[in-house]
Amino acid sequence: MTERGISRREFAKSAVAIGGTAALAACLDRGSGTVPDGTDDPASLPERQHAWDESLATDDAGNHRLSRHHVLLLLEYTGDGTPSDADREQVETALRDLERAYEWSTEGLLFTLGYSPAYFDRFEADVAGVDLPEPTALAPFEDPEFDTPDALLHLASDDERVVIEAEEALEGNREAANGHEMTATFEGVLREADRRTGFVGAGLPAENQDVDGVPDSEPVPDDAPLFMGFKSGFDGNQASEDRVTVDSGPFAGGTTQHLSKIRLQLQQWYEQESQDQRVSKMFCPAHAAEDRVEGVGENLGTDSGVGECPEDVVESSRREGVAGHAQKAARARDGDSPLILRRDFDSTDGGEAGVHFLSLQQSIADFVGTKQAMNGTDVAEDSAVGQRVNNGILQYMTVRRRGNYLLPPRSLRALPPADPA
Ligand code: HEM
Repeated sequence: MTERGISRREFAKSAVAIGGTAALAACLDRGSGTVPDGTDDPASLPERQHAWDESLATDDAGNHRLSRHHVLLLLEYTGDGTPSDADREQVETALRDLERAYEWSTEGLLFTLGYSPAYFDRFEADVAGVDLPEPTALAPFEDPEFDTPDALLHLASDDERVVIEAEEALEGNREAANGHEMTATFEGVLREADRRTGFVGAGLPAENQDVDGVPDSEPVPDDAPLFMGFKSGFDGNQASEDRVTVDSGPFAGGTTQHLSKIRLQLQQWYEQESQDQRVSKMFCPAHAAEDRVEGVGENLGTDSGVGECPEDVVESSRREGVAGHAQKAARARDGDSPLILRRDFDSTDGGEAGVHFLSLQQSIADFVGTKQAMNGTDVAEDSAVGQRVNNGILQYMTVRRRGNYLLPPRSLRALPPADPA
């Protein structure tokens, strides 16, 4: 504890994790250039809310690179029964205000607004053309709680000022966003039930490693984009935006979103494992034997090379005593394509190292199938590998919460009915 009674860890929190007007004022004081303005022409923006790739920056190898700062707002609809047209208009106007304020890009703001099964329960009809199940536990060894807000807003930007300011503006705590007047807010329609934050990108995990779950030796490499020390999300190992898009029915152009909150415990990861063991567990033992991964893995280019890991994971695990995370997950593919588009990021919420594992897929079943492949229950049954020990990265993570959402196409993003005409 410091003299003022704030714990050292609390004090070291990033501005985005703190949020609110004081954090924003501190960031604005620090200043760092102008933020590009958005557009007055909503038709110029993609109909898919999740169409971010074209507007994302790319890394040196050409992979799409996710924005560095993230805010997730879990929102409750404050009205009784089904939303009125006035509520819809208010939400849509507020979102258009954001699009006018900030460029649809990594330097500006990218966002999505999705809706949960609990939201759609208020309508008599079922969700048309999309299976949107309640979240469930997805492994025999996990016991998560379930998120049941009505809506989930995901804000993303390379500029921490943008995500904090956009949130403040939507909640009515600020009259303007990037100097543009807000003509509407979420006030009186959508209320914040929970707020989660995070980051991804070289340098940020090392800067934010003073949290529970990361040993005090500050082991996170300076250039690591994620706490576990490896790059993730190579273009060749992601489903495309097309692949995850709902292709028929009134929600065509939308997608489904799964959000889990994962706690990381990296003591053993960093203090008992060698870099070779970490490569074996994250990728596969063959990658370690062949020295394929240098440092955080930038040398892999645009594909993790998981295609060259032995395909029969049970057989390879019997031989090696270890199963790789990517090796197991890659069993859930449709031809050459993974089924899910990962847009996950790290977090220090609650002073704990964690991951907000946000994933997009055509149907929630695609996520469930991928998670099953990653569980490696078959590997544990048929080899000396344990259910969590030596079984990819399962030993170092605990799933705390799960939630499912539908991201409607942009034209239906404001409090949609379950069965739009
Ligand atoms: C908890 C933290 C996690 C970390 C640090 C992590 C990290 C990684 C890394 C480094 C790769 C290899 C590089 C790449 O393909 O991008 C990978 C691949 C992958 N991971 Fe994870 N992962 C995590 C959790 C998960 C979860 C919860 C799932 C969901 C089931 C998942 C699904 C996948 C998939 C589908 C692939 C690609 C497999 C393929 O190439 O087909 N990961 N992950």
